[in-house]
Amino acid sequence: MIQFPLRWLYPIVTATLVLVLAACAAQPAPKQISGGTGPAMVAAANPHAVRAGIKILQEGGSAVDAAVAVQTVLGLVEPQSSGLGGGAFMLVYDATTGKLRVFDGRETAPSGASSDMFLDDDGKPLGYVDAVNSGYAVGVPGAMAMLGMAQEKYGKLDWAGLFNPAIELAENGFEVSPRLAFLLENYGHRLALDNNAGAGNYFFLPNGSPLPEGFLLKNPAYAQSLRQLSENPRALLEGELAHKIVAAVSIGSRPGSLSLQDLKNYQPRERDPVCRPYRKVQVCSAPPPSSGGHAINSILGILSHFTFSEDGANDPANWHLFIEAQRLAYADRDKFIADDSFVDVPLEGLLDAKYLAERAKLISPEMAMKHAKAGNPDGMAFGRDNTQEPEGTTHFSIVDKWGNAVSMTTTVESLFGNKRFVGGFLLNNQLTDFARNPVDEHGVELANAPAPGKRPRSSMSPTIVLNEHKKPVLITGSPGGNSIIAYTAKTLVGVLDWDLTPQQAVALPNVIARGDITRIGSLNLDPALIPALENMGHVIKPTAGENSGLHVIQILPDGSLLGGADPRREGQALQVNPEP
Ligand code: DON
Repeated sequence: MIQFPLRWLYPIVTATLVLVLAACAAQPAPKQISGGTGPAMVAAANPHAVRAGIKILQEGGSAVDAAVAVQTVLGLVEPQSSGLGGGAFMLVYDATTGKLRVFDGRETAPSGASSDMFLDDDGKPLGYVDAVNSGYAVGVPGAMAMLGMAQEKYGKLDWAGLFNPAIELAENGFEVSPRLAFLLENYGHRLALDNNAGAGNYFFLPNGSPLPEGFLLKNPAYAQSLRQLSENPRALLEGELAHKIVAAVSIGSRPGSLSLQDLKNYQPRERDPVCRPYRKVQVCSAPPPSSGGHAINSILGILSHFTFSEDGANDPANWHLFIEAQRLAYADRDKFIADDSFVDVPLEGLLDAKYLAERAKLISPEMAMKHAKAGNPDGMAFGRDNTQEPEGTTHFSIVDKWGNAVSMTTTVESLFGNKRFVGGFLLNNQLTDFARNPVDEHGVELANAPAPGKRPRSSMSPTIVLNEHKKPVLITGSPGGNSIIAYTAKTLVGVLDWDLTPQQAVALPNVIARGDITRIGSLNLDPALIPALENMGHVIKPTAGENSGLHVIQILPDGSLLGGADPRREGQALQVNPEP
């Protein structure tokens, strides 16, 4: 886990809280006005991206239009997390039809991929940096083609104009943020970012020092790539940029097989979300190859068999239930979730109400279970995947004035992705989301083993909660590798069960129970919580490195909005009110 110095975290906490409060509390309560238009909001990990989204909304754009502007600016100002060279899952609520649609822009493995591509000559999994920075790790980037597909359906503005905020910022320059400077200083050399000539020239000064905070950074090559994308959403997959991507992957450490044909063949997908009831609401999130929709609904489905005490986040017994439900859900997720175009994923069985009731019976309200085994509702034989996932990724939530909503999690996978840098952006290393070893310690095949054309399993959990009238009430999600599931579930329980505002829920300590040890983040941690949980038999690992990036919007019954921005990142939630 990456550790952040508290010396710069605290100012960001304060600044973020001020911004969120300014956005959400200081303004008069927004009201629905005639014509059915209401307040709009963007919650994202960087203020430039939030402002770009707001600008598009003010120009009459939909939530999906704003998402294009937010993504293209994030790819510039937060390149360590997401961008043109990565992939994403986007959940869209269409207020006109009342439907939810998922757009899957997940990367695919090239036709030359093989199940043993992350094994060395001795059959051992490659080390972290070797695997992540290898050409084998680069999947066909899908985020922009996916946004093109969604915008064609749900956009209100001209596609090309959505790129203007990012093009202007790339050409005029932006100040390197504290977090980007911190990551460059602490991880730039360590992760071999400067081994790639393009990335080295862009992210480091001529004397080899990483770019400092406040440095005015311009990226004309990125502006040029955006111009090409503004003319063709598939520009990365079939134009000059496609040639550049293939060339970059075919050189350097462990060259990959990604070909022009692989890029050309790429198709984003439109799918149904995974929705299940939880108490009085419906919780919807991403389907396979993401494990988000399964795991979030598994946690909540198990928790639905318990009543939390009224003390909410102040009662260790409530956290105990949250931990145990997570442990059971992760055990199933690790074994069974993968790309359902390639393996049978027993999703219905795993989320079946009776099955989850049986899983809930494994929880004692007083004592930790210590170890959770996967169930097996459909008699399937896969090994358990213990792959760890590193830090990258970002999440944003948007509501427009018509009540359409977007929940999008987007990623280049690891910090600074694969480090290969073309057209002013980083390529992804998403294929390390496959199990690096295709079999478990008993030699049993893993559902998430690499294969040609397959999409690696994700934990991205863009989530929208619908009320009894099937209207959205909460839009949430986070980065964080497989901890995304725990982080996102925390906001759901915080808002839905513990009556917290989104900002309060986001600020709760992060509590992650994958495997036998429970990690608890230090931010806002009640010192009494860990001893109380240890008394119940939990094995706890305190950690300062839980870098969630939850960006949340709650829609209240009167149509007004509340935002939440994670104090662990640099974002904000900003609202724009309807014209009086
Ligand atoms: O798709 C996934 O689940 C991962 N590639 C996400 C990686 C991530 O969130 C890293 N985190 N901060």
